[in-house]
Amino acid sequence: MDKILVTGGLGFIGSHTVVELQNEGYEVVIVDNLSNSSIDVLEGITSITGKKPLFEKLDLKDKEPVEDFFKKHNNIKGVIHFAASKAVGESVQEPLLYYENNISTLVYILKELKKLPSASFIFSSSCTVYGQADELPITENAPVKLAESPYGNTKQIGEEIIRDTCKVIPTIKAIALRYFNPVGSHESAKIGELPIGVPQNLVPFITQTAIGIREQLSVFGNDYPTPDGTCIRDYIHVVDLAKAHVIALKRLLENKHKSNYETFNLGTGKGSSVLEVIHSFEKVSGEKLNYKIVGRREGDVISAYADTKKANDELGWKSELTLDDAMRSAWKWEQVVRGK
Ligand code: UD1
Repeated sequence: MDKILVTGGLGFIGSHTVVELQNEGYEVVIVDNLSNSSIDVLEGITSITGKKPLFEKLDLKDKEPVEDFFKKHNNIKGVIHFAASKAVGESVQEPLLYYENNISTLVYILKELKKLPSASFIFSSSCTVYGQADELPITENAPVKLAESPYGNTKQIGEEIIRDTCKVIPTIKAIALRYFNPVGSHESAKIGELPIGVPQNLVPFITQTAIGIREQLSVFGNDYPTPDGTCIRDYIHVVDLAKAHVIALKRLLENKHKSNYETFNLGTGKGSSVLEVIHSFEKVSGEKLNYKIVGRREGDVISAYADTKKANDELGWKSELTLDDAMRSAWKWEQVVRGK
């Protein structure tokens, strides 16, 4: 079976994708610099799949070790590239760190892929490229808006770098997957989301509040032009998302793609408000969540949810799990992590 490199494979989405790749029989090699992940995740993956993936601690910013890695693993057929920094606020404070972490690493990998006879490449992009879209649901043809942060800009520039590369190097085939809001965890609760420090994202903040690590959840604004006044997002279960990566990779490996560079939205197509997410959590956990409404958070868009038609029809992928499933699994994971 084909050997697939997963960069950032010990992270949240990466680890779930490694599980799905191994379930499909692929041979996986993970590289990760452990800057925002733990080596224990390797055990979690092994315990779910019964097979330990190959692992090398590697920082993709280090050009020569990256070259050596590809010399050693010269039979790699595909790369799923998750490794990147993703904290929006931090990226505003440290733009150069973000451009180095997210852009140089991408360039180094593509340079190595250029040397291979053929390479399939999957890139972690984000719905953040659309900003506040003029029309909902958001299709892949919606214009890419001026990025709100260096983090968002690295996703836009990353897509452009890949598109430009694929134009002139026919041996590289690529798909950029634009994720909406990934949440939840594997049903086994052996892997999940492990934010370091205070979580910036809604769902880990909810579960950490419920377990008692955080005093209270702040709901950022209830005066938006939405039915209940809180912002709307498309929350997609991480296991559904992981499966989409395997399907996208297969599309390239089996030459079923329509062009050398394609983009797909990965979402459920359903928008949920912040209050709906809280209520889903309360329903499935039986816990009462301590939250209060505060002012808006700078940079938040009002509403974003995916048009899933292209992913459904062309990729042949559709999300299967619900928001309740995601909240149930996120809660189970939080309880396991905290030893409760
Ligand atoms: C954020 C990033 C986005 C990135 C994504 C990765 C911003 C502006 N956007 O998306 O670029 O791709 O994470 O997962 O940071 N909320 C609260 N209280 C909280 C936390 C969040 O009310 O403590 C609300 C937010 O206002 C938002 C919703 O929950 O309406 C989701 O927020 P979050 O999980 O941070 O995701 P995004 O902002 O959509």
